[in-house]
Amino acid sequence: DWQYSLRPRKLGEYIGQEKVKANLSIFIQAALSRGEALDHVLLYGPPGLGKTTLAGIIANELGVNFRQTSGPAIERSGDLAALLTNLQEHDVLFIDEIHRLSHSVEEVLYSAMEDFALDIIIGKGPSARSIRLDIAPFTLIGATTKAGALAAPLRDRFGVISRLEYYTPDALVHIIKRAAEILDIAIEDEGALEIARRSRGTPRVANRLLKRVRDVAQIEGSGVITNAIADKALRMLEVDEAGLDHTDRRMLRTMIEKFAGGPVGLDTLAAAISEARDTIEDVYEPYLIQLGFINRTPRGRVVTEAGYRHLGIPYPEK
Ligand code: ADE
Repeated sequence: DWQYSLRPRKLGEYIGQEKVKANLSIFIQAALSRGEALDHVLLYGPPGLGKTTLAGIIANELGVNFRQTSGPAIERSGDLAALLTNLQEHDVLFIDEIHRLSHSVEEVLYSAMEDFALDIIIGKGPSARSIRLDIAPFTLIGATTKAGALAAPLRDRFGVISRLEYYTPDALVHIIKRAAEILDIAIEDEGALEIARRSRGTPRVANRLLKRVRDVAQIEGSGVITNAIADKALRMLEVDEAGLDHTDRRMLRTMIEKFAGGPVGLDTLAAAISEARDTIEDVYEPYLIQLGFINRTPRGRVVTEAGYRHLGIPYPEK
């Protein structure tokens, strides 16, 4: 499908994250030249920055199979054992949301990562015994939005730990133009820049906004995405100049109006705006922090002066 075809397949096609790419490129070449599996890789950072895409690229560059699952999808240790015993030499196993693995599954993963072995218990009671099953050397690529939520023994088993950062507007312009080319959308530089500025540093958001702006260009414009059309479409979508959407602004406004700008705890805030705690923590809060609109303090989240200014509300002198 289109989403798939938009995904770059080679490191050289992947835009941005220069430091992460440069490091990975060396580790991949070194593993290939030694004829070994690449060390296990942990990718972390906010959602939509391309962790899954990058994992697929690593497998492709290594010339191995890419097997994909997620923490919540692996319910029992037997599910993981089935996945691991089906891997071929040097394959990549990608586990998204790896911080959501259960303890029992995590235990199985430890020996698999460290010794390429599975310890399986056969039987019950006094006659139960453990057998060790060898598996093919493989590369685990884990992805998480919260590296801090990973158990230390699991985190310690990754040889490569890479943090993905929000993209610069310049990198997003490249990503948007590349997507526009693939999707056969006519776009002017200033149109691409407007979408880039308002995509919260996130390619997934940029690609979604690109398609909505195209709709407006087609029906209300000449079909070409100009700066004016992009601005008009993004206003319709309630995405403001800083890239905040309706929920971001509702969250900021609630913090100011109901909690005097904070400090307010995550659970209290989640209840007040009827959003999931995880969504606030993974999606909304990191970008608002990046913009300097809110701060995290030991007592909770507070709205900064810049946050007040963005909403046009006077900052109370304290
Ligand atoms: N599409 C989404 N993310 C991308 C990236 N980092 N590079 C190129 N295309 C992308």
